[in-house]
Parts: sequence; C-alpha cells; structure tokens
Amino acid sequence: MSDLHNIAKKILSNGKGILAADESTVTMTKRLSSVNVESNPDNRLLFRETLFSSSSMKDCIGGVILYDETIKQISSGGKSIPELIKDNGAVPGIKVDTGAKDLAGSKNEKITEGLDGLRERLKEYYELGARFTKWRGVYIISDNLPSKLSIISNAHALGRYASLAQESGMVPIVEPEILMDGDHSAEVCYKKTSEVIKRCYEELYLNNVDLKGTILKPNMILSGTNSKEKISKSRVAELTIECLTNNVPSEVPGIAFLSGGQTEIEAVANLNEVNKLNNSSFIITYSYGRALQQSALKFWSKDISNIKGTQEVFNHRAKMCTLAALGKWTENLENSK
Ligand code: 13P
Repeated sequence: MSDLHNIAKKILSNGKGILAADESTVTMTKRLSSVNVESNPDNRLLFRETLFSSSSMKDCIGGVILYDETIKQISSGGKSIPELIKDNGAVPGIKVDTGAKDLAGSKNEKITEGLDGLRERLKEYYELGARFTKWRGVYIISDNLPSKLSIISNAHALGRYASLAQESGMVPIVEPEILMDGDHSAEVCYKKTSEVIKRCYEELYLNNVDLKGTILKPNMILSGTNSKEKISKSRVAELTIECLTNNVPSEVPGIAFLSGGQTEIEAVANLNEVNKLNNSSFIITYSYGRALQQSALKFWSKDISNIKGTQEVFNHRAKMCTLAALGKWTENLENSK
C-alpha cells in the first residue's frame, strides 16, 4: 500500500498540481467547436500532446488525468501518451467513470455510472501506464437538493470505485462536485458540501479504502453563479478551509480543487487565498481543466501548428496555479512572462 501513499505525494508535492485533460469526446468536441476547430482524433491528440510536451510538465504538473481515447493514442514522436507524460516528469492518470446519467427516482439529479466491469478496465489502464484514477460524482443545489438519494448513491459508487482502484495499484481521486449553478449563498454551498463530503468518507471507510493513498477533488465554497451575494476571496477561503477541516479525515494527504466554471484568474486567486490560510495537514492544490487550458486553447485555435506559442501560454497558467498552490501568487505576476 505504501506505493499508493508515495504516488499521491508525488502528484501533489512542492506546489505541483493536476492537469485535468480527461474531457470525454462529447465535451472535448464542445470545447473545440467553441474555438472553431474540427473535433477529430488527430486534433484532440495534437492539442493535448502540445500541453503534455510543455516545460511546465516538469516544474508544475504532478499528474495528468486522461480520457480513454487519449491513453491509447501514440504521440507524434512515437511514444505512447502515458510514456510521454512520464518522461516529462508527471504521473499519468485516467478517468474511469462512464459519465453522469439521470438518477431514477429523482427529477433533475444524476448518478455516475461505470462500476460494471471496472476491475477489468482498471487492469487494462494499469497496463497502459496509469497510476491514478478519477471518478466524478455530480450534485446540484436548489431548495431540497441534493437529495438524500443523490448523496447516498453517489457516495456509494465513489466508495466502491476507490476500493477497486486501490486494489489495482492506483490512487483514486474522489471527486464529489457540487455545481456552481443556482442562486444559493456560499453558506448554503458550505452546508451542502459538508453533507456530501461527510457521506463520501463514510462510504470510503465502509469499503476499507486506505485514505493515505487517496486524493480528494472537491469544489470550493462559493455562492451560486446566479446569486446576488458577492463574497470576498478571503471569505471563500475561510469557508472552504473550515468545510474541509471539519469533514475530511486528516489521513487524506491532499486536496486538489476543480475549477468548476471559475475564470482562470478567480481559480488562482481563490486557491492562493486558501493556501495563505491553510494551517491544516492537507496539501492543497489544483486539479484544473478549464482554468488551465482555456487561454492555451484559444491561442492554439488561431494556428494549430503553433506548438511553441501554445506551450508558452500554457506554461504561464501552470506557473500561476503552482504559485497559488504555494500561497505565493499575486495579480501583478499575471503580466510577467
Ligand atoms: P474543471 O476544472 O474545468 O472544472 O474540470 C475539472 C474536472 O476534472 C471536472 O471533473
């Protein structure tokens, strides 16, 4: 088991974070269409390979989460994608859930699927070079939601997944994501996130998961995107730290936030503030998708052969995120190259 502890630490230590590049083909097609690039296997590979070959892989990125298509692709230099990531200093990981589907018995909620056949798929991913995994449960906030049904069933799946991932020699990232949509206050987000995280750890205990070999990927505590409430970053940080210290067992080595629709600047500013306040035993860092890739994608779409320029844009974002993971980011640094 101690291998799992080491992998978790390697991914998160020294201000390093995770690049979440595990968009499903449907989601990646939306991202590429938004910048007028055709979504085909070659273009998806080209953009991702550009990021995975950048110099920030050694300095800032501890792990990369891949999607099923990408982990099986071969880079232009002839290496497999997991090999390329490993040779550039980061740990390859893989999203193993098969997506959020409508939850029977509830009108608007989702349940994440993918447990059937998971042991066999994990074995295949391990052989392809993955050393950590991700499973995302998704929850919505409104008057009576998330429902008990959604909280219990998603936590159950996360517990079973995490145990299977460890059995296969891989670190599970446990991701209960409460979406930002809605007009709720940050206090409500705090209450519902606490309930969701607490239940996840009850299930992880029940499934005998070794918490030292896991990573939590939660949302920050924010007011809803349609809320009139405007709260400061220091209040976001206070509520976020309080929620995590009250509900996450101290054996968990690290917490890597999702960006969840925050802008690139919001996502670094809030992470930085959390780290300035962090007096817990947790390493607190990032596992960003959009907040790491947005600017690079926009730049790349103007000339998809401009690898170097795209890498510079990505390296800058990764550097800002890593500074925030160390509590050393300032807005002025955004303009430094
Ligand atoms: P975002 O940072 O874009 O929210 O993506 C992170 C992720 O992996 C969601 O599952």
